[in-house]
Amino acid sequence: MENPHRALVLTAPGQCSFAFGQNIPVGHGPVRVAVEYSGVNYKDALAVTGTGKIVRAPFPFVPGIDLAGTVLDSALRRYPTGSQVMLTGGGLGESFSGGYSTLQFVESEYLLKLPDGMSTRTSMILGTAGLTAMLSVMALQRNGITRGEILVTGASGGVGMIAVKLLDRLGYAVIASCDSSYLWYKLKGLGASKTMGRIHAGRPLEHAVYDAVVDTVGGGGLAAALTKVRRHGCVATSGNVAGAELRTTVYPFILRGVTLAGIDSNTASMQDRETAWQRLQAIIPEQEVDQLFMGTIGLEDIESVCYAKIQGKAPGRFLVDMKNPLENPASA
Ligand SMILES: NC(=O)c1ccc[n+]([C@@H]2O[C@H](COP(=O)([O-])OP(=O)(O)OC[C@H]3O[C@@H](n4cnc5c(N)ncnc54)[C@H](OP(=O)(O)O)[C@@H]3O)[C@@H](O)[C@H]2O)c1
Repeated sequence: MENPHRALVLTAPGQCSFAFGQNIPVGHGPVRVAVEYSGVNYKDALAVTGTGKIVRAPFPFVPGIDLAGTVLDSALRRYPTGSQVMLTGGGLGESFSGGYSTLQFVESEYLLKLPDGMSTRTSMILGTAGLTAMLSVMALQRNGITRGEILVTGASGGVGMIAVKLLDRLGYAVIASCDSSYLWYKLKGLGASKTMGRIHAGRPLEHAVYDAVVDTVGGGGLAAALTKVRRHGCVATSGNVAGAELRTTVYPFILRGVTLAGIDSNTASMQDRETAWQRLQAIIPEQEVDQLFMGTIGLEDIESVCYAKIQGKAPGRFLVDMKNPLENPASA
């Protein structure tokens, strides 16, 4: 019988093709997963288009930093055959063969069993973006921000949209900042009390108008956000779409006691992941998860969505449904 497995493969940086059956460069690890869903994150777009040096393994290589599916077999009792699992980051799609394959062997270091009642589809609508948004909110809470006005930069993006929803649900007033004005209406629907364009750096200290910030853009957006935070506020930062360089002064830190909290979902501990996923499930009702993504695509659409993302034309979450029957030209 023909091996039904298929994958999107990078043969070199920015060179995509498809592989089938035995030709798929699968990873190593004690757990073999039938992948049902993945997603497209900004980092995936950097990897697939070759715009950023994301892949740190030999080619050919399967990208995709997220996957969710069912365990086919495993050497570990913790992940019995038939259990539903997800893996986000932790080197997947960077150092180890990733989620854009219907079959994958994975390491267990960051492998999570899905929370009871959460589907593989929901887990991948949220994916790395959901984990990052939740970790950002948890960082604000750890720093004493339990209410008030919170700015979300890059609000039209996957991380930003989920952060808007979470913050609104938790009772904060959310100000959503992004240039994709066609999504402002959607952001209002997710709970933003106000929408506005991107923010830009001005004076070292501006009028302080936010209690905290969930920053997903970095660069000039982060620099601007820091100047507008009230005393003893906090900025949780996770992205670099606006640039990797941060030009700021010490004044927000030494005159207003502002805390800058870095978020790295890739290497978040298992304990933090478990807490974050339980909280995501508790805060966002299953029937409202569909508000948080832009559409479902198949393996064959990933490359074009990634190019659109890099051009700023496709912000937000895209769910990859691996059940989509990509045709194997060899079997035609
Ligand atoms: N640290 C972590 O653990 C972690 C995890 C996930 C993602 N990230 C990072 O977070 C960022 C967002 O990821 P995502 O998946 O949410 O991306 P996404 O869905 O593709 O959205 C991109 C967002 O960036 C904004 N943007 C694009 N270019 C910009 C610029 N020059 N200046 C200001 N804003 C700009 C877009 O807003 P407009 O409407 O204004 O264009 C949009 O909101 C990326 O840098 C990603 O690598 C980090």
